[in-house]
Amino acid sequence: MARSFILALGADHGGVALKSRLAAALVEAGHEVQDYGTDSPASVDYPDFAHAVCTAVEEKRADFGILVCGTGIGMSIAANRRQGIRCGLAHDATTARLTRAHNDANVLALGARIIGEEVALDIIHIFLSTQFEGGRHERRLAKLNQATETTP
Ligand code: RB5
Repeated sequence: MARSFILALGADHGGVALKSRLAAALVEAGHEVQDYGTDSPASVDYPDFAHAVCTAVEEKRADFGILVCGTGIGMSIAANRRQGIRCGLAHDATTARLTRAHNDANVLALGARIIGEEVALDIIHIFLSTQFEGGRHERRLAKLNQATETTP
């Protein structure tokens, strides 16, 4: 069996239905899933759920976070405000692979209005099975949290 992970999942009302289906599939695949809500289609604010998942990742209670909203954009913006988070918004296999290989993403954002369940599961599978390449990308990651301009 492929390696299994502890995954923190979160969604707003735009992503809750897809999150539920993904959670079931991920448990079926042998992963441990922590579900940080939301749990219903009632309207909520995506940053609340992004921050709950990011805290779990930053505190190492989860290996990776997976955030789902309508587009994935709001979730990724919220997650990338966090110092310890690199959130990649992925719509396909290539963005899923490269956000791990180049950005060492520890949170994945998905758009439930943009992709379907099968594509989402392919993205998650690729995201979880791709290693960070290190090398020149280490230097770039080190500059991400610098508040001032750095020399190119
Ligand atoms: C909610 O209507 C929607 O704005 C949200 O799910 C997300 O797409 C935001 O980026």
